[in-house]
Parts: sequence; structure tokens; C-alpha cells
Amino acid sequence: MAIIQIRNTGEQISDESAVREFLTGNEVYYDHWTLDAIPADLREEFSLDDAQKERILEALSPQIEALAAERGYVKWDVVAMSEKTPNLEEILKKFEQVHTHTEDEVRVMAGGSGVFVIKGKDGGYFDVVLSAGDVISVPEKTPHFFTMTDERRFVAVRLFIDPSGWVAHPFEDPAFTKA
Ligand SMILES: [Fe+2]
Repeated sequence: MAIIQIRNTGEQISDESAVREFLTGNEVYYDHWTLDAIPADLREEFSLDDAQKERILEALSPQIEALAAERGYVKWDVVAMSEKTPNLEEILKKFEQVHTHTEDEVRVMAGGSGVFVIKGKDGGYFDVVLSAGDVISVPEKTPHFFTMTDERRFVAVRLFIDPSGWVAHPFEDPAFTKA
């Protein structure tokens, strides 16, 4: 289950219905999947080769295809990062810049954990701490970034409406507060 941390107040929301209500209020799509279909040998694996990524997509394909049909995604892939990822600190510095996209940004956390930092409707930022099974979509044009937790490992499925149009536009925001 996702946990919300509100940056300006330090408030934390962890009750499931309150998390869902908060995210809905901010127009952030949220769902939680069971991941029983992922083969056991891939569940604790965070350095994945292409064949392993394919097996994860295959295992989750009924759920992925249902979500794609419901929300218009045409393409999906898997990203995996861990402490073994080369140049990890540099990559994270690049990640942690507020930006927007012209389409929504979808992640299915297939393993490990991650955080979306999102600009709320009230102008302040909140963190959505995601764990395995969490599915989130940040709406188009909403300032945000994705980063790792201290666990420093995740596997995520990304889904795209138009992969060629998926570009990060930097968003300078004096309202952004670093954690
Ligand atoms: Fe993004």
C-alpha cells in the first residue's frame, strides 16, 4: 500500500481509504495489484536482463492489458534499478528535478519501492511512497518527479500512450520544498 507524506506539514497518511481519497482528490490514479503471477526467481531480482524483463511483462500481461484497454496505453516496458546500477547517484540527481509531461506517467511497482513527489492541488508537494503492487498515474502537465527510496531498489512497469512524445519538461517551482 502507498503512504502519503505531505511536505509542508509533515503529515503522513497511511490508512488505505484515506490514501485513496487523498490521491483521488489530487486527480492521481491509484490501484493495487497482487503480483502472485511473477515467477519466484524474479521476485528479489533487481538487475534484470531483457529476457527477465520480458518474463515479468508476460506474467503481468492480463493486468497490464486490462489497464491499457481502460486508459489507452499502447506500449509498455520494464525498468529496474538498484545499488548495482552504474552511476546511480548521478542518475538520481537527474531524476530529482521537478518536471511535467504532455501525457500521464504510469508506474506499476513490480518489486522494491519508489517515491513519486507530486505538486498537489493546493500548490504544495506531497510524496507517494510506493511498494510492490502499487499502481499510480500522475496526470499530464502535473509537476512531479520519481525517485528511489533508501531501499535503493525497484522494478517497475511503465505504460505509454505515445512513447515518442514522452519528454520531461523542466518545471521551475519556488513552491517546491526539498525533503
Ligand atoms: Fe516524469
